[in-house]
Amino acid sequence: MEATSYRTHGCGELRPHHVGQRLRVAGWVRRVRDLGRFVFVDLRDRTGILQLYARAESPLYASLRKLGREWVIQAEGTLRLRESPNPALPTGQVELEVESLTVLNPSLTPPFLIEDETDGLEELRLQYRYLDLRRPVMQARLMLRARLLAVLRHYLTSRGFVEIETPMLIRSTPEGARDFLVPSRLKPGAFYALPQSPQLLKQLLMIAGYDRYFQIARCFRDEDYRGDRQAEFTQLDCELSFVTQEEILELFTDLVRFTFREVLGVEIGPVPRLTYAEALAQYGSDKPDLRYALRWEEVTAWAHQQPVPFWEGRRVFWMWVPGGHASRKVQDTWRALAQEAGVASVAFVQKTPQQVSTSLSKFLSPESLELPGEGLGLWVALEDGPTSALGALRSAVIRDLNLQPEREWAVLWVTDFPLFEKTEEGRLAPAHHPFVHPHPEDLDRLQTDPLSVRGLAYDLVINGYEILSGSLRCHVPELQRQIFRLLGFSPAEMEEKFGFLLQALSYGAPPHGGCAFGLDRWVMLLAGGQSLRDVIAFPKTASGADLMLGAPAPLDPAQKAELLGWLSS
Ligand code: AMO
Repeated sequence: MEATSYRTHGCGELRPHHVGQRLRVAGWVRRVRDLGRFVFVDLRDRTGILQLYARAESPLYASLRKLGREWVIQAEGTLRLRESPNPALPTGQVELEVESLTVLNPSLTPPFLIEDETDGLEELRLQYRYLDLRRPVMQARLMLRARLLAVLRHYLTSRGFVEIETPMLIRSTPEGARDFLVPSRLKPGAFYALPQSPQLLKQLLMIAGYDRYFQIARCFRDEDYRGDRQAEFTQLDCELSFVTQEEILELFTDLVRFTFREVLGVEIGPVPRLTYAEALAQYGSDKPDLRYALRWEEVTAWAHQQPVPFWEGRRVFWMWVPGGHASRKVQDTWRALAQEAGVASVAFVQKTPQQVSTSLSKFLSPESLELPGEGLGLWVALEDGPTSALGALRSAVIRDLNLQPEREWAVLWVTDFPLFEKTEEGRLAPAHHPFVHPHPEDLDRLQTDPLSVRGLAYDLVINGYEILSGSLRCHVPELQRQIFRLLGFSPAEMEEKFGFLLQALSYGAPPHGGCAFGLDRWVMLLAGGQSLRDVIAFPKTASGADLMLGAPAPLDPAQKAELLGWLSS
């Protein structure tokens, strides 16, 4: 055995075929159990847990007993078969009889249990993140993240993508959020912005001829934190030249399939496509969770033939929940939720083996309804087209009836997003960002009816989360100028903010497009986490704080004076 190395094996690697070998391990003491005739120590490292022991007669018995939780030790000894194996542990058939022990570093008593099921509340765990990250569940998540990154790099490089880093200190890139700003020392009064995404830089790389680019890119958006949003997050950012939307969707469907297979060993099945309009009409959402088959169907024509006064002149949607049953109380909460979200009316029909009952019994005879079996039906009447209220109601039904998903993974594309949306002040704003290429079929309406124009833009949705967003871009400068004009930029503003882009587009920009995956969200889903904090090594709290580093922090007086000097110049 090599005498100079701390260890010959990882704790979790040892199996019956190592029995009889003399070996050395190192790691953290998970717990010590003194049974009188024996003392047992669970030793943990990144590979797993191994049981060490010493007999009462052993000269090491006393030393092992004195070890504390999270002490770092090195132990050498002979591997034996256990008399009573522990089937819950991969190393549960073996144990190390300790013949030599070195304490490498003692530890203070940790403030919470370093176990998957811990007694530490999140705030405390974030404060001692290095201890939290020792928990096997956290290690598994971060290792899954690393595995995903390795698989993505392998996939993309083997298909001719070039990994290029773009700078962090740049000008504002409009992705719709507030910028994080960095004051310039060399040019007082001027500021860098941290990238909200590498959007413009990757477009410039296409103009530069690197026709398949990717980057694991850190992005910064000063927006409110939620379970699926952090102000600092990571994208897998990609861009391609001479490519059609169809080619992009096929390539990235294949990439997603490949990663599921390589990382989880899962085949994800068909990846359907819905247009934005279809997704909204059928699911009331542009990121529907298709693990559940429930969907809305428009029944306006039928509804207008029925003597239901509040359906007149409205669009009516219907959803059937096979086998579903909701009490009057639950129906009332759904009605309140829908009406708060702007729905004109909600009605129900319930079929059980005994009877059919409907909240519309004043207007419709239950027998006249041709119901597909036992279950629950909902009608919703809307003043205008489909809205997110349909989605909110669908989610409430799934949640309150505790419906079980029909499959573990539901991946889909949503395409044909609108190019623009209207702000509260009635102005046009980009629905995504201002560089999206309009749908060629809608180009003739760009000036006359811009809100009806679709973009060549697409999202990939997994289990109801938007995991990827992308588009083809305006590569002809005149088209990009026209979009900027529609967005209300004066020629001077256009020049000031995007002059470099418009100039670059004039030097032979190829047709191009791409996308960005929200990597943290994707890992969260793959790792079964509840929040992005579960899959980011050093995340921020909901109020944007790093509790371990104590960031953000006030400036010291000298730094503050310097900063104020720059700001006032
Ligand atoms: P978008 O702004 O849609 O597109 O971002 C792409 C993906 O990044 C993830 N994401 C986030 N994840 C965590 N926290 C956040 N605050 C956050 N914001 C976004 C989402 C989203 O789908 N430049 C374009 C991409 C392109 O057009 O190529 C862009 O950044 O999963």
